[in-house]
Amino acid sequence: MKLLAIETSCDETAAAVFRDGQLLSNIVASQQEHLKWGGVVPELASRAHIIKIVPVVEQALQEAGIPLEEIDAVAATYGPGLIGSLLVGLTFAKGIALSRNIPFLGVNHLEGHLFSAMIEHPDLPMPFLALVVSGGHTFLALVHDIGRYEILGETRDDAAGEAFDKVAKILNLPYPGGPSIEKLARDGDENAIQFPVAKLKGNAYDFSFSGLKTAVLYYYNKLSDEDKHRRRADVAASFQKAVVTALSEKVALAVQRSRIRHVVVAGGVARNRSLADAIRTLAEKHDFQVYIPSLQYCTDNAAMIGKAADLFFRRGKSSPLDLPPRPNLTLTESSTG
Ligand code: KG4
Ligand code: ZN
Repeated sequence: MKLLAIETSCDETAAAVFRDGQLLSNIVASQQEHLKWGGVVPELASRAHIIKIVPVVEQALQEAGIPLEEIDAVAATYGPGLIGSLLVGLTFAKGIALSRNIPFLGVNHLEGHLFSAMIEHPDLPMPFLALVVSGGHTFLALVHDIGRYEILGETRDDAAGEAFDKVAKILNLPYPGGPSIEKLARDGDENAIQFPVAKLKGNAYDFSFSGLKTAVLYYYNKLSDEDKHRRRADVAASFQKAVVTALSEKVALAVQRSRIRHVVVAGGVARNRSLADAIRTLAEKHDFQVYIPSLQYCTDNAAMIGKAADLFFRRGKSSPLDLPPRPNLTLTESSTG
């Protein structure tokens, strides 16, 4: 089966082509339009998707060496995400399915992140634990099977990536904040400042990052201009350490309680080296396998949407062409069949 997958849920216009579950091409056009605004502007995002969707899909087909006429199935993200952005990719994919009379599947973006590790590890055993950490989402889930998930915990306020982005803004670093903070943190001392790691009442697997962000804000704003300059790298490193500690503590707890020996870490924040190192250290201590996708499959991309779609198509699922975009889609509402 030759599959075309499209992802436009936020600010990346992306397309990928698969043949029999094998990834052949993966094109991501990151929108530069948002840089000067310090965050994604929804209206600019949908306009940029409209301009980029045709060249991005054409490039994906060309690199795969498969003309559109030979594509057997098409998939696109239908949620969660920005309504205007989702509409562009979803409508484009439906148009192809309708004109070519081939099956169409709407994919839940969160399932894309969940199965992103399977692009490189197709035999990843289930059940597995998955920590999904991105700009819009932070949760720890138990994946029993395709379409069968149990959310163990999630963030009660900011997503981990959002915390990186907000702290970057405080420190006057460019958007997206994650890579900027990680780079600056290399010059800092992660033990210089003890920022709080939230201890929450109730569900032991839940996360919270807004208190940490506020602690950074108060700490940094109290510094003199000279100290701001001198201590910026220490603040970045100490903040990063607090996030990594919060995330890895929950993974350790989930592994110990569930006794599941396979852990996926996915989403944009999974690109962070210190998080990867912390989880790998845990893996040695608690004897479990870690699967962290290569960098290009962590941040939003269409390869992960295609991987999830491939799993669903194989189980005979497809979606009706009147499937609406769902900006607030949750993980438990699996890709529709
Ligand atoms: O998965 P993604 O592309 O989009 C969402 O689905 O939200 O994740 C983007 C997020 C941004 O918040 C960005 O700051 C963060 O991932 N990120 C990082 C790193 N690279 C990207 N966070 C920490 N360290 C990084 N190296
Ligand atoms: Zn994402």
